[in-house]
Amino acid sequence: MNKDNKRAQAAARMAASPIKRVLFVCLGNICRSPAANGVMQAIVDARGDSAAWVIDSAGTGDYHTGDLPDRRMRIHAARRGYDLTHRARQVRESDFDDFDLIIPMDASNERNLLRIAPTPEAQAKVVPMAQWIDMSSRYDHVPDPYYEGAEGFELVLDLLENGCNNLYHDLNK
Ligand code: 4NP
Repeated sequence: MNKDNKRAQAAARMAASPIKRVLFVCLGNICRSPAANGVMQAIVDARGDSAAWVIDSAGTGDYHTGDLPDRRMRIHAARRGYDLTHRARQVRESDFDDFDLIIPMDASNERNLLRIAPTPEAQAKVVPMAQWIDMSSRYDHVPDPYYEGAEGFELVLDLLENGCNNLYHDLNK
């Protein structure tokens, strides 16, 4: 299935739902996915649309369960006005019931989600973040900033702001 297909199918499937339930997923749930969670929530709040959205994030790993987002990510996000207060948790099978769209940050997160998805319908809910990113064709995933410097965190936020804005408009067509 090509990239635009999965994105378009997700939008078509969810356009009619009065509540959009979206889960962002990365490895640790302390850098990329809690940032995506905060960026998406801010977009929705700014449009007075928070009653129509359920937004959460989780990690495929459990190393950081209960932790706040990485301090570096909180600092970079705060400079752009995002207050990241999520507590890390691991993805669970019930997430495939509780959310309509499950958005991995990279191909490894995607593979892990597809492995635990209980049904083909659950698998169809998994659509990579990169499918909404059009600021540059250089990025087919949201790169893990954990071992990077400040630029890595800024890049993640640039990509997420671009992708989350596109996602918001897709689901409100
Ligand atoms: P994230 O980044 O997946 O964007 O939250 C990472 C955080 C922690 C680790 C790896 C990636 N870790 O190996 O602990």
